[in-house]
Amino acid sequence: MPPRFDVVDVDRQLPVAGPCDTEIAALRHDFIWGVSTSSFQIEGATREDGRGPSVWDTYGWQGRITNGDTGDVACDHYHRYPEDIDLMRQLGVQAYRFSVAWPRVFPSGRGALNAPGVAFYDRLIDALLEANIEPWLCLYHWDFPQALDDLGGWTNRDSVQWFSDYAASVAASFGDRVKRFATFNEPSIFTLFGLGFGGERATSSADRLHRAIHNINLAHGAAVDVLRARVAGSSIGVIHNVQPCIPSTPADAAAAERCDAYWNKAFPDPQYLGVYPEPVRSAVEPYIQPGDLTRICRPLDWFGVNHYSPVFAKADGDAVTGFNFGDRPPGLPETPNGWPIMPDSFRETLVSVASRYSHPVYVLENGLGGYDKPDQRGAVSDPERIDYLRKYIGAMNAAARDGADIRGYFVWSLLDNLEWEAGYDVRFGLTYVDYLTQRRIPKASFEWYRNVIQAAHHR
Ligand code: GCO
Repeated sequence: MPPRFDVVDVDRQLPVAGPCDTEIAALRHDFIWGVSTSSFQIEGATREDGRGPSVWDTYGWQGRITNGDTGDVACDHYHRYPEDIDLMRQLGVQAYRFSVAWPRVFPSGRGALNAPGVAFYDRLIDALLEANIEPWLCLYHWDFPQALDDLGGWTNRDSVQWFSDYAASVAASFGDRVKRFATFNEPSIFTLFGLGFGGERATSSADRLHRAIHNINLAHGAAVDVLRARVAGSSIGVIHNVQPCIPSTPADAAAAERCDAYWNKAFPDPQYLGVYPEPVRSAVEPYIQPGDLTRICRPLDWFGVNHYSPVFAKADGDAVTGFNFGDRPPGLPETPNGWPIMPDSFRETLVSVASRYSHPVYVLENGLGGYDKPDQRGAVSDPERIDYLRKYIGAMNAAARDGADIRGYFVWSLLDNLEWEAGYDVRFGLTYVDYLTQRRIPKASFEWYRNVIQAAHHR
């Protein structure tokens, strides 16, 4: 048995399930309800048991995250995973999406496997299965090994081989127990933010961005083949952020189309349809070798969607991609961290993804970022999050009613965690984390989501 830690007695804190006040009638009876996290955002233990540094460690250690935050401790999930699985069990989720930290299993990204790093994921996976929660493993959620970044990272075509070797080890280590695999999380976000919005329109940055896009697509295809060959009964997909790109003003219509190509289609189109959308196609052309599109477009089992809100785009002649973030109309409702709340654009997104890519869709992230705090009794009430989730689950139900084949929904996130460059201030959890004591406090939304799941099961 794994060690136990100061487990919050959720049963005692939560009343019996109440009514479900969101629309779920159009969802399938075998619909999967889950929660998502990622390695760097929750694990901590960045220097423990032989783990190597990732680019996000470097970024934090250079003081580039808000408040000087780093991933060094995060939610201490590396040690407290049994308590976190206990929370999931109380929540009633059937599935848990997490990611493996590449530099935990290969400290320098390749070479010798780090046995203690593999052992951590063994313990995690075994404990999930024991709790009857299906592990959904994502190979890559942005914590790229620093040692490989030093060799050019994704701009180096060797990254395809590095990633497929890593995928092969993950398949060999965990494929006896894990069947659900995603290759990448939000490739367009980490390439655009890492390489696209650097500012200058310099040829060198355009070159790096488009090389990286193509290499990541090739790495995806190679990993799919490796997983398919090595894991019996696998179910493989990839996770994309999909958000309508709305022109900021009527004059920005062409920029919004460029945004849509880079933000929403540069990865899914070649992966599912075997073609690059314009204008990405012309820009990537110089790096395409014969047979590449076939290497990228491999058979997949599902399409993972992350969605929070639409993007408002404007033309920007100085940006490599020709677009930038524009103003949005005044008066739109927004989340505490300033993202527009537009559930109907979630419905539209799901309907269009299901029809464009003709694959079953799983919503693998949706949620609200806020600044939650416990009250004097230590309870955390988060009515905005409940309201957001109610509207967005309702919109998903409407998409299913409109014919979209949606098979599951995962809230981002189980726990408050490191919100990338925004640090720990912005909280997305159904569970509050007191970072000083690492105490977990289920928020009101935790109980609300538990009710939704129970109601869905008792239909
Ligand atoms: C993402 C992210 C998460 C974020 C979440 C909230 O894939 O962007 O996967 O890591 O924390 O989306 O911004």
